[in-house]
Amino acid sequence: MPDINIETIKAALGVDIQKAGSLEELEELRIKYLGRKGLLAQLTSSIPALPPQQRPGFGQAANALKNKINSLLEEKSKSLASVKGEVVFASTVDIGLPGIAQDLGRLHPITQVVDEICAVFTNMGFSIVEGPEIETEHNNFTGLNIPLEHPSRDAFDTFYLKSTKTSGERLLLRSHTSPVQVRVMKARKPPLAVVVPGRVYRPDATDAAHSFMFHQVEGLVVDKNIRFSDLKGALEFFAKSVFGQDIKMRFRPHFFPFTEPSVEVDISCIICKGKGCSVCGRKGWLEVLGAGMVHPNVFKNVGYDTKKYTGFAFGMGVERIAMLKYGIDDIRLFFENDLRFLNQF
Ligand code: PHE
Repeated sequence: MPDINIETIKAALGVDIQKAGSLEELEELRIKYLGRKGLLAQLTSSIPALPPQQRPGFGQAANALKNKINSLLEEKSKSLASVKGEVVFASTVDIGLPGIAQDLGRLHPITQVVDEICAVFTNMGFSIVEGPEIETEHNNFTGLNIPLEHPSRDAFDTFYLKSTKTSGERLLLRSHTSPVQVRVMKARKPPLAVVVPGRVYRPDATDAAHSFMFHQVEGLVVDKNIRFSDLKGALEFFAKSVFGQDIKMRFRPHFFPFTEPSVEVDISCIICKGKGCSVCGRKGWLEVLGAGMVHPNVFKNVGYDTKKYTGFAFGMGVERIAMLKYGIDDIRLFFENDLRFLNQF
């Protein structure tokens, strides 16, 4: 009889498995017991020396031992792996399987366009400021030279809130970003150059061109000697940056209570290049924003010296810019959260 027998191997195995503290040690055990020159091989190499009638029984016992060793090693390797948080690659992961793709999130197209517009102006030295969506009647209207009961208030139709300030002043959802002009000027002294991105609200019936909530980017520059040509230069730089260098711009006289003179600004139609098409209503021009020189009354309302300072302001609708830029014909697409739409940006 060989000095290694099934019982001694079993006993040694129990102790060894117990002691093994890592997958590497376990691999050494596998070699020790099941390797080409391992204990099990030594055991079976003694079979030919046995009397013929004992050989089958011994062979079966050796086979059973081999299975037992295998399953003990497997069990232990799982428990070691789970302690270490490791994956037992050889037995549990099929590296030939295709991976599981992770969907990447991205910014909403409106956020992308807001960022792009703001970047054009911060490159010119503007800083970005924000204001609250719930505003006072003063900041939204009166401070901007839009008097109470004046018909121009109709142009900025407004959601009023039930609650008021403790002073009794009415609160509302701002109908444009211009009230932030008032806030910034009250908080700071010139020179200042700011852009103000944000949401605004108007009780319009929703259709392809209207939404009760949309986004604007406001601009305001105040300093000594700010002229209309500064406004033109800044807006031309903006239009060319966003829509392309070959874009043309034109200013049409307009009225806003908070700017004088006031203009509406058009760019040459980016679809037909000015020839006239369905997007520009055959006019060759697309309206993109409102602007003008800050009205002296607005300066007076915030306590700025109208003899010392002049300034310009502008305001644009972000959805409109995005729709023109990407050829989108329905504003509602921005707010429906349909991934088939959103994934395109
Ligand atoms: N607040 C105006 C609007 O919502 C846009 C504007 C801003 C016009 C600043 C002139 C100056 O239509």
